[in-house]
Amino acid sequence: MRDWSDLGEKERSTSYGPILDILNCEFPVENTNRTDIHVLTPGCGLARLTWEIFSHGFQSEGCEFSWYMILTSRFIVNNSAGDAAQSDLANYRIHPFLHETSNLLSWQDALKEVRFPDINPAETPEEGGKMSFGAGEFLDLYFEEKWNAVATCFFIDTAHNVIEYVEKIFQILKPGGLWINNGPLMYHFANTSEMSVELSWNELRSVILLTGFELELEDSEKCSYVENPASLLTQEFKTILFTARKPLSTAT
Ligand SMILES: C[S@@+](CC[C@H](N)C(=O)[O-])C[C@H]1O[C@@H](n2cnc3c(N)ncnc32)[C@H](O)[C@@H]1O
Repeated sequence: MRDWSDLGEKERSTSYGPILDILNCEFPVENTNRTDIHVLTPGCGLARLTWEIFSHGFQSEGCEFSWYMILTSRFIVNNSAGDAAQSDLANYRIHPFLHETSNLLSWQDALKEVRFPDINPAETPEEGGKMSFGAGEFLDLYFEEKWNAVATCFFIDTAHNVIEYVEKIFQILKPGGLWINNGPLMYHFANTSEMSVELSWNELRSVILLTGFELELEDSEKCSYVENPASLLTQEFKTILFTARKPLSTAT
């Protein structure tokens, strides 16, 4: 629903939209060969952001460790539309709100059918982007300093220790590379028995600077996440949208 349906369009425009705008500004088509620009999206979920980045002509790689996400995104990207004509799109149906029994105006809202995909994921961009996938734990998969940009969306708060993510992103970005983040700090392991380091934005900001990044943009977006637009209960995140650059030369 969020990633591959018409209903998710509004969510995508506030979650992924600012990230794509920043990437487009950072690497303008007029003077960049985008096929040489490597962009990584850790925790890519169902991979729409990864696909959007690819469709803008970049070398785009998504990383994901959940088999539910990996199998579903693989199905959508590789099989859901293929060479289908526009009329064959949106052939698959889900009922994502079926288990909601509260805050309904009408039972029809719980039964709502959502169709996917809204676009043909097999369409390749004129600019010639490439898309790849890293299936596994982000911290264990990437070591090489090869990424021109890392884009994290609703991801950094999935960490047991967010400092490890900051250090990893610094390690794998090329000198001069850009980290773009949009998301909240709803720490996934808070109030569980598992290890959880829960930093405020002010603390995380200091960690980002101490790691060696230069913070460029600090902004906020109002975003929802997998929201039933017809529900009587709505939830909105005031995300932290920031860009942080790895300097061209780093002190050793
Ligand atoms: C909150 S979802 C966000 C998905 C997507 N970025 C979006 O905005 O819809 C976080 C995703 O990160 C994945 N994830 C969490 N920790 C991860 C890790 N350490 N390595 C790889 N994927 C991870 C989860 O499985 C989940 O799909």
